[in-house]
Amino acid sequence: MRHLMNPLDFSVEELEKLFDLANDIENNPAKYAHACDGKILATCFYEPSTRTRLSFESAMLRLGGQVLGFSEATSSSAAKGESVSDTIRVVSCYADICAMRHPKEGAPMVAASKSKIPVINAGDGGHQHPTQTLTDLLTIRTKKGQLGNCTIGLCGDLKFGRTVHSLINALVRYENVRFILISPEELRIPSYLRDKLTDMGVEFQEVIKLEDVMPELDLLYMTRVQKERFFNEEDYVRLKDFYVLNKQKMENAKEDMLVLHPLPRVNEISVEVDNDPRAVYFDQAQYGVYVRMALILTLLESAKN
Ligand code: NCD
Repeated sequence: MRHLMNPLDFSVEELEKLFDLANDIENNPAKYAHACDGKILATCFYEPSTRTRLSFESAMLRLGGQVLGFSEATSSSAAKGESVSDTIRVVSCYADICAMRHPKEGAPMVAASKSKIPVINAGDGGHQHPTQTLTDLLTIRTKKGQLGNCTIGLCGDLKFGRTVHSLINALVRYENVRFILISPEELRIPSYLRDKLTDMGVEFQEVIKLEDVMPELDLLYMTRVQKERFFNEEDYVRLKDFYVLNKQKMENAKEDMLVLHPLPRVNEISVEVDNDPRAVYFDQAQYGVYVRMALILTLLESAKN
């Protein structure tokens, strides 16, 4: 039985298979409409979510399965002091697969170690968000035709943004990917990731100004400043509008550059960019359902063995 904690839990070949399956689901939804008849997905969310939880639920419903769960810690027994280990033992009796989001880094991993059903990390603190990465990779692969040979700019809160951490982890495995890390000094990527890029000999550069690098980018991954992970309000207020992508900045970008964002957006992308054909952040939300359908099928299959 397999779990998903980190995008690296799947090899590049396994990811290709997963994305092929997601593309097949997109093209032939009727073929999969009863693939999970009689199966139950539990969504255990100890932190707020719109896309991740609802796309998981939509994915399971579109596969013919059913869903149960909670969307805030206060409505579960966590409010009474129950540990995630105990919760997952119980949830294992009620469901066949579980997606878990938790503010503590590593909590879904602890749950997985005690679980009788596959557990999916749906975001753990500022650490990882592997299913957002699957969504991002599927979007890039489908729109660009490949996952290597590109310069990607990651912009915004690279320190606390778990989607950025997971995406870097995943993209270093592809050929000829160059990273431009665009952030204020205070929000640079964690040193463990910088060390990883250096040790692997991956080309990367850290810059502060988005405008300076815009013409070089094939992909621009914008992120929200992660308010909930700041220790003081003052720092958040100072940094929250550091980057605002607007029409004017888009004029200096390549004609086929893609703008991605895991969403939710706050101010970092002006709504005037939404109609630009290069803006694919709402397409990502759609791909997020297909890739989660593919993931649920793959993990349930692994639980049979
Ligand atoms: C992201 C998250 O929760 O980390 N949202 C998402 O799942 N699409 C990004 C964010 O909250 O900024």
